[in-house]
Amino acid sequence: MKALVLYFSLTGNTKFISHIIRDAIGADEARIPLQGEGVQFENYDVIFIGTPVWAFGVPRPLQRFLEKTTISQKRIAIFCSFSFIQGIVFSGLRGLLKGNTIVGQRAFREPRRYKSKYQAAIAREWAQAIMAS
Ligand SMILES: Cc1cc2nc3c(=O)[nH]c(=O)nc-3n(C[C@H](O)[C@H](O)[C@H](O)COP(=O)(O)O)c2cc1C
Repeated sequence: MKALVLYFSLTGNTKFISHIIRDAIGADEARIPLQGEGVQFENYDVIFIGTPVWAFGVPRPLQRFLEKTTISQKRIAIFCSFSFIQGIVFSGLRGLLKGNTIVGQRAFREPRRYKSKYQAAIAREWAQAIMAS
């Protein structure tokens, strides 16, 4: 199964988890905004999509990206990093990803600052379980 980790990250927390997942399952990665050529989403069986929480929801740059990009009929696992309130980030992401199957969701509290090793281990185990399911 071929996997992609697609993420948006301003200060590195979501990037930290994205890289843990990428390395745990041998996935490709793409950071938003994308550099160079667009990603061929159809090449992937599973897509992990990661985001920080901004203003209790999905950051505008990721929202705009998902609105103008066609990703459909994929198995998608969503994750976020946040500092105090997750808000409606997961329902927001699910709304933007209609037409796909959400196979998991996980939140990480500023993993570069808090319990990094522990949160990394959770991310690794979570991603491996999704790939095995
Ligand atoms: C503009 C902005 C808005 C934010 N709003 C929230 C919020 O509503 N709830 C929350 O828990 N954290 C909020 N945060 C904190 C980030 O979600 C948190 O630091 C996250 O781990 C950052 O991810 P990143 O390092 O990948 O950019 C906000 C951060 C920024 C910059």
